[in-house]
Amino acid sequence: MKFSKNILCIGAGYVGGPTMTIIALKCPEYKVTVVDINEERIKRWNSDDLPIYEPGLLEAVRVARGRNLFFSTDIPEGIRAADIIFVSVNTPTKTFGHGAGMASDLQHWEKTAHQIVAYSGKPKLIVEKSTLPVRTAEAMERILSENKKNIHFEVVSNPEFLAEGSAVKDLLEPDRVLIGSQQTESGLKAAQVIVDIYAHWVPAGKIITTNLWSAELSKLVANAFLAQRISSINAISALCEKTDADVAEISFAVGSDARIGSRFMKASVGFGGSCFKKDILNLVYICRSYGLNEVADYWEKVITMNDYQQERFVKKIIKEMFNTIVGKKITLLGFAFKANTGDTRESPGIYVAKQLLEERAALVICDPQALENARKDLAGLDHGVTYELDPYRAVEKAQAIAVITEWEVFKKLDFEKVFSVMQKPAFIFDGRNILDHQRLFKIGFNVFPLGKPSLTHF
Ligand code: NAD
Ligand code: UGA
Repeated sequence: MKFSKNILCIGAGYVGGPTMTIIALKCPEYKVTVVDINEERIKRWNSDDLPIYEPGLLEAVRVARGRNLFFSTDIPEGIRAADIIFVSVNTPTKTFGHGAGMASDLQHWEKTAHQIVAYSGKPKLIVEKSTLPVRTAEAMERILSENKKNIHFEVVSNPEFLAEGSAVKDLLEPDRVLIGSQQTESGLKAAQVIVDIYAHWVPAGKIITTNLWSAELSKLVANAFLAQRISSINAISALCEKTDADVAEISFAVGSDARIGSRFMKASVGFGGSCFKKDILNLVYICRSYGLNEVADYWEKVITMNDYQQERFVKKIIKEMFNTIVGKKITLLGFAFKANTGDTRESPGIYVAKQLLEERAALVICDPQALENARKDLAGLDHGVTYELDPYRAVEKAQAIAVITEWEVFKKLDFEKVFSVMQKPAFIFDGRNILDHQRLFKIGFNVFPLGKPSLTHF
């Protein structure tokens, strides 16, 4: 079949894979190829055992794969053939040298820019899909324009706002699509090419076009605002525990103000995920590099509060279990950083597990999707850790349960049965406030919700 355009995506991760799947699904006249250096990942994208778990993703992949969606490790050929190249490689926090622990590590991203130059023989439109520091496109343009072949590359920014666990829905029905370009004739023309892709299924009113720098910065700011809301409600959860106020009632009362809104107001053991912390650290780093120290300090507090919330959760477990957990069996219900994903990057579960292990607890980790990643995260430290898929087996002879992830399956457990197989006194620390606390208390548990009065039999 003859395709009207060749789209390439470099990076077949949590963003590249699902985003390109939906583009291929909705634009059958475009050929969409996703390439990666990771052979194992590509192999799995070409099988029914996809490398990431997202509801609805496998069904969508099955429709488009082999029709106009292809996964490959042949990066040079992919670049040669492409008209449009989305760059969706990872941009983690730098772990070395200048800016370590704060700035974005742009080595993968820069490598792709050099590969594009090396293998291109015709003009191409380069789309920044990765989350990048503001003004990165300038550096990208510089590297690309250094080519001796005199090829013109136009760079546009199209940051991704999907959340894991709801990626397919977020891509099919986005709140908005953001496309930033240079405000030149060729820049605006390039932006229109990307608008045309999304216009296949996104209403025109939801496609926002801006200048390049606004698009790049909007992405960092959106994540910072979302994380800030969680840190705000988590800060209040600590105050609630001192005053017998109920954080869920406060979320509802405060969020009912249409100006504030009700979403992203759930107190938790802390936010995780690969991006909130990294993107805020990056924002903080950028602010400091411009000498805006007060602005940097302001946003940095969002992370301080998140660290505090995780620490508070662990301290509470230790304190309430009579100040020692040595040899005590504690079951973590959930390890993924949120429900409906197997991703554990920056999951509060990692911090909680490590701290409890340091206190020499015997841990059981139970998660419907994240056990493979949990094993990797705790590799070398997991002497005394059991990984268990079945929640009922996971709680056998446990003295405490700590809820880390809000999986539906945990809400629906038969807690009478759970109580009957646990050691007594039995404790539940609900780090997500997803359980019926009064009912658990009646069954006999000592219950410690977040930001609500504890219910104990002592
Ligand atoms: P990821 O680690 O899951 O995937 C990145 C992929 O890029 C990896 O498979 C890696 O092997 C590949 N890669 C790295 N260098 C390469 C190269 N030179 N050539 C080919 N492939 C290469 O990362 P992700 O979660 O998909 O995130 C990608 C970007 O999108 C990041 O900037 C992130 O901040 C941003 N983002 C992520 C999410 C999310 O939910 N995960 C949401 C929005 C934005
Ligand atoms: C987040 C953003 O929601 C996406 O828009 C963005 O594209 C993405 O980051 C990114 O740039 O990577 P994601 O991290 O996948 O998406 O998941 P979220 O639903 O935002 O949850 C992040 C964390 O906050 C999770 O640990 C979640 O449990 C926690 N959370 C969320 C709360 O603790 N309380 C809430 O009310 C909401």
